Amino acid sequence: MAFSKRDLQNTVKDILGDRLLVIVSNREPYVHVMREGKIECSRPTGGAVTALDPVMRACGGVWVAFGSGNADKKVVDDKDHVKVPPDEKLYNLRRIWLSKEEEAGYYYGFSNRALWPLSHIAYTRPEFRADEWKHYVEVNKKFADAVMEEVGKKEAFVWVQDYHLTLLPQLLKEKRPDLIVSHFWHIPWPNSEVFRICPKKKEILKGLLANDLLGFHIRYHCENFLDTVDKTLEARIDRERYSIVYKGHETLIRAFPISVDFSALSSKASTGEVEKAMVQLKGEYGLNSIDHLIFGLDRIDYTKGIVERIRALDRFLEKYPKYRGKIAFVQMGDLSRIHLKEYKDLNDKINAVVEEINWKYSTEDWAPIIMVRRHLSFKDILAFYRLADICVVSSLHDGMNIVAKEYISSRVDGDGTLLLSHFTGAARELTDSLYINPFDIDEFADKIKQAIEMPKKERKQHMAALRAVVEEKNIYKWAGDIISEFGKIHNHKSE
Ligand code: G6P
Repeated sequence: MAFSKRDLQNTVKDILGDRLLVIVSNREPYVHVMREGKIECSRPTGGAVTALDPVMRACGGVWVAFGSGNADKKVVDDKDHVKVPPDEKLYNLRRIWLSKEEEAGYYYGFSNRALWPLSHIAYTRPEFRADEWKHYVEVNKKFADAVMEEVGKKEAFVWVQDYHLTLLPQLLKEKRPDLIVSHFWHIPWPNSEVFRICPKKKEILKGLLANDLLGFHIRYHCENFLDTVDKTLEARIDRERYSIVYKGHETLIRAFPISVDFSALSSKASTGEVEKAMVQLKGEYGLNSIDHLIFGLDRIDYTKGIVERIRALDRFLEKYPKYRGKIAFVQMGDLSRIHLKEYKDLNDKINAVVEEINWKYSTEDWAPIIMVRRHLSFKDILAFYRLADICVVSSLHDGMNIVAKEYISSRVDGDGTLLLSHFTGAARELTDSLYINPFDIDEFADKIKQAIEMPKKERKQHMAALRAVVEEKNIYKWAGDIISEFGKIHNHKSE
């Protein structure tokens, strides 16, 4: 039997007891925005919050995050709290506020102009700017103050997320050495040769080594981290225990592959509501006469290989003209980090390439690529997953990739093919996908053909195997494994 939400709740009860669970991340799980004079609450896209919200729904506690919505301030109480999800009110969201300068320096700057490209080897050069680092340090302090206010004198487990908050563990431990602090790194950790160019590498590693537990998606990232510390600091690396002792403090390094709520996605995808949406979307996007629907869903980000995917589709149509008029490629993507030039340029480039390819092949009543520009509800996304004969995940480098696992979870009919980049964390577990190298456009084009021509029986065998993996290694198991590790650390410390 797969580890369930109930199992996680029991684990939490056993291990946390009366202790408070505090999750800290830059991105908030719910954002309030003003639309046409009304406050609306929506869910931001992005792997980390998508994966963690079901965990907090099951565990309760406080989630501390940057309040980025233009109506966020309007809905909080005098402690900057708001109960979420809005209709169920299962946990507290504590918002912290950043000035424009702080957001520019800490979020757009050091986090996403420096650490993001540094960690993803996607050939976008990281830029390190001294003033942005200053804001990064200040904002990490701001988060530390907010967490300390939430924790007060209580015993607590603090669970920090991602590359925006590398200094936070050390700041917390300086104030409360007894707190159990753990960090999950949602993106890849690069090899030491890459990381060594970072001018603030020592500060970052010292910050992270204040954690009791540091998690990555896959073992390879753990090994890269061990090597990086080995080459940068005077620390004792224990490769048997997978631990690092720095200045007398031990940090355990572990791999925990993040996942999705398989059973919730499967049941939602089977609803009549989603089936209705499938019919409606087919009509809306002119897909009724199409034989094969290929689908992509990403934040518009240069790590996701979106241009490569479109180039591969072009090559496919060039090499195999009999498929012209018979396929459609639907790409959805929320704009992301658009104040950074690289992201704006990427968005312009995608638009230009789509226009070029559509112009090249279009006929009176058909064009191969459909860019979905309107915001789709989750119900519609599930409907597209179910309509998609092929889902393409072509990241140039990706910590895990949640879309791959969402697609599998929603294929309740047991059909569909996942084209998956070798360079995602998900590729380690989802071995029944059809692998692609997004840098090899010709081979990628042939893989599209292979996916289209795969016999139904074979497709179904692969999908059944993929579903079994995601069902077993679901999000509750991921959180349960991490929280059990918190428990072991706590017991060890109180011996
Ligand atoms: C990745 C990161 C997350 C981040 C998400 C969306 O999944 O690991 O920490 O929240 O991208 O990016 P954004 O900058 O919009 O939060």
